Amino acid sequence: MTWFADLKLNTKFNLILSSLLICLFLLTAFLTYRDQRQLVLDIALEQGRNVARQIIVTTDYMSDVVRDEPENNFALVPQVVATQVAKRISEGNRYFVRQVSLTYRNPDNRPDAYEVEQLKAFSATSEGESYQVIKENGAGVFRYMQSMLAEKSCLKCHGSYESAPFFIQQRFPPDHPSYNYKVGQVLGAVSVSRPMADLYREVGTNLRRELFYRVGTLALVFVVMGILIRRFMINPIQSASATIHRVTTTGNLGERIPAKASRDEVGQLINGFNEMMAELERTTLQRQESESRYQRLIETSQSAIVTFLENGKIVISNQLAESLLGLSRHELLGETLFDYFENGQDLKQRIADYCRDGKWHEISETSRQRLLQKDGQPIDVEVTLVLASNLDHVPMFTAIIKDAGIS
Ligand code: HEC
Repeated sequence: MTWFADLKLNTKFNLILSSLLICLFLLTAFLTYRDQRQLVLDIALEQGRNVARQIIVTTDYMSDVVRDEPENNFALVPQVVATQVAKRISEGNRYFVRQVSLTYRNPDNRPDAYEVEQLKAFSATSEGESYQVIKENGAGVFRYMQSMLAEKSCLKCHGSYESAPFFIQQRFPPDHPSYNYKVGQVLGAVSVSRPMADLYREVGTNLRRELFYRVGTLALVFVVMGILIRRFMINPIQSASATIHRVTTTGNLGERIPAKASRDEVGQLINGFNEMMAELERTTLQRQESESRYQRLIETSQSAIVTFLENGKIVISNQLAESLLGLSRHELLGETLFDYFENGQDLKQRIADYCRDGKWHEISETSRQRLLQKDGQPIDVEVTLVLASNLDHVPMFTAIIKDAGIS
């Protein structure tokens, strides 16, 4: 994952957000599709139930009220009435409705393979309803069936042959299977078929519309988030890093990160940096000021003065020291003071002893030394050693050097 860590913040953010978007989009598409499929299935089921109920109620009603009318008018047979009424009502609708029975009297009411299966299941169990989307000639068809149970009134014509009206006996011989039903038995079923093509088309349209809105919303969120993150995070961070880069290359401590006064985390970071720079600028100025004050002070001295570190490296010197050693200030800084004394190693050892015991402040001693000038000329001097400062436990020493010949 280092390649990812190396990416720019903006790219990282875009990558994460767009993969999130794609996942969300796929999830929404899947969920919407599932919901829409369920919705059209519910619509088809509702339709099937209504039609079946209407047919069963009509058949029951007709069966209850009919006397010997069908004798003269076959169109008044309860099932015939119910089917015709249902057909007229369903005209122009997309469903087909029939009444079927395993013991059909009218060949038009012969059940197909699917219906036979359902009718057998209805007879075997008390289940009175079944529905399913099945494939017929490659297209999905919603099949709904509801059982019709034999009521007492039905037995007038579906009971024994002997008790059936004459016109029934005439048409259907005694061994016809449509006789001898008992109350509660499954006489047949209402069967509704509804091609799903148009409903599925609707699913497609709804899905496209829903996805269009959702993708639109998601994209809007993406853009707004992008703008906000760029504005409140990436831009301030970029300007901070540019400022820090400028400070390190130019050394200009007056640089500040240009920022609007915000109190959020990024704002705090920027303010913190700016405050730190101000503090640094202040202390640097103070240090420079005190350095130049010290320099002025030692220049007024009648003796040569050299300030050096424990290892002898020269940090500050005055003009007298420079002329005594015959070196310019530039040459002198960074040189090791001990190298310019005949017994320099001795001096070095004494300083080291003080430092080892941590007794820098006790150092205050004057000794005669022989100084070697740049051109090798020896000159006798009197050297006084004192502790110059001890900041952060880094001791600095000052050597006050007087020409022993003069004094
Ligand atoms: C007046 C006599 C009569 C009564 C009462 C009657 N039926 Fe029927 N039924 C018939 C006849 C006749 C047919 C055949 C109609 C045709 O040829 O289309 C039939 C057909 C059916 C069918 C269609 C299957 C087939 O056999 O073709 C069903 C289902 C049915 N009846 C159920 C019932 C139910 C349920 C009741 C009681 C609520 C009932 N019938 C009452 C005479 C009757």
